[in-house]
Amino acid sequence: MIQRSPGTTRRRFLTGAGALAASAALPAPLRAAARAGIPHWDLSPGPISRQLAGPEYGESTLWAYNASIPGPIIRVDQGQPFRVRLTNGLSQATTLHCHGLRLRNAMDGVPGLTQSPTAPGETFDYEITAPDAGTFWYHPHYQSSEQVARGLYGLLIVDERDPLPVDREILLVVDDWRVTPQGLLDTDSFGSLGDRSHGGRFGNMLTVNGEIRPRFQLRRGERARVRMCNTANARPMTFAFPGHDVTLLALDGQPVAPEELLGAEIALAPGQRADLLLDCNGPDGSSAQIHEVSTGQAMLAAHLDYADTPLRERAPTSKLALPANPLPEPNPLDGHVIDLVMEGGAMGGMRQARYQGQMQSMRALADAGQFWAFNGEIGTLGTSLGTVALGRTVHLTIHNDTAFAHAMHLHGHHFRVIARNGQSVRAEPWRDTELVPRGERLTLAFVADNPGKWALHCHMLEHAASGMMAHFEVV
Ligand code: C2O
Ligand code: CU
Repeated sequence: MIQRSPGTTRRRFLTGAGALAASAALPAPLRAAARAGIPHWDLSPGPISRQLAGPEYGESTLWAYNASIPGPIIRVDQGQPFRVRLTNGLSQATTLHCHGLRLRNAMDGVPGLTQSPTAPGETFDYEITAPDAGTFWYHPHYQSSEQVARGLYGLLIVDERDPLPVDREILLVVDDWRVTPQGLLDTDSFGSLGDRSHGGRFGNMLTVNGEIRPRFQLRRGERARVRMCNTANARPMTFAFPGHDVTLLALDGQPVAPEELLGAEIALAPGQRADLLLDCNGPDGSSAQIHEVSTGQAMLAAHLDYADTPLRERAPTSKLALPANPLPEPNPLDGHVIDLVMEGGAMGGMRQARYQGQMQSMRALADAGQFWAFNGEIGTLGTSLGTVALGRTVHLTIHNDTAFAHAMHLHGHHFRVIARNGQSVRAEPWRDTELVPRGERLTLAFVADNPGKWALHCHMLEHAASGMMAHFEVV
């Protein structure tokens, strides 16, 4: 029996064999229409009706970009300017945020900070150039705890100038849905105070590319590049490729020194991505699996089906590495210091915090649906962590004084962790989202090289909606 435990209650994983789409292949990259020579995508979020949990279940109203979950893949070349026109087909406002791209601040899609929300029926044109190659994603940044949970997300791939010589690419966009016993999207629990004050909206049904346990075809002797993204609202997940050799190539879009993954496992907090090299050396005609193992019980996520005839005897063993992106290296010894003390939540012991200009008791805050504080204040986009001079290294220390881990996401920059609990650490990878364990203190360093107002928040979207949101300004 496959089970998973959201929080403390154990719920059965739905056994529906259905799928949102017919095959494990994601929709082909939406053909970029060239306007004035610039690749152009039209994205329109809107409602669709789907049998989320399989053909034996009823239809749920989901929200999708261009009627597809995940949305169309946006695929561009490194350094190539492109445009995305967002046309809002929802009955509420929205925006488009390209997660992990070091883009111009005005294109970051954060309502109330970089643009006003795009009303129903309106459009917004994003003009973007991605300086870094890698695996990124897009999603709304307006009421994202509901909009992302209803299906609004898609992959954004920026190709290296020289493509990696692999035989196949496998895209794994994973999501964790909360469905009712009837197999419908659980909409009653949107805004749940329990989710907000605890670990966020954990689901009970896993999809990969919008499908339940999809099948991927491959051949013995192939080398596959796997691009993974955790789009879940709140669940940190760990994926295992039993019986396979897997090499880590990149995290959050940024190349790392290739490293074989111990136990062939990769952990992804909400918002995080990984690029992997998968050596396909299973027997011809066999079927292997990808498991999600974060709960301690292996849950089947996808099948890897080997064809009867191999491509080669064995996958090549030559080393492959991705070229580094042009990131400015922060000074580990000297930086503009920002301290961010995170408090609150269930079992957190926070008594009071400032909210809407006033000190309020935890009780009053809970009544307002607010649970978490940044530096003693219920964090919102208006919460400022100050101003940083353009080009200056920032040392941002996040103190997690809560009983939960938080997936902290920095907009417009990638950072390295330079200290854990006051001890310096060396050679940590670039990231745009980092899981800060409960009770721990992490110092992140980055060069504030991009002018504008940048959001910093927990990517557990219910936490972001109830106090874990702030910004700083680079001038
Ligand atoms: Cu992927 Cu501010 O978010
Ligand atoms: Cu959080």
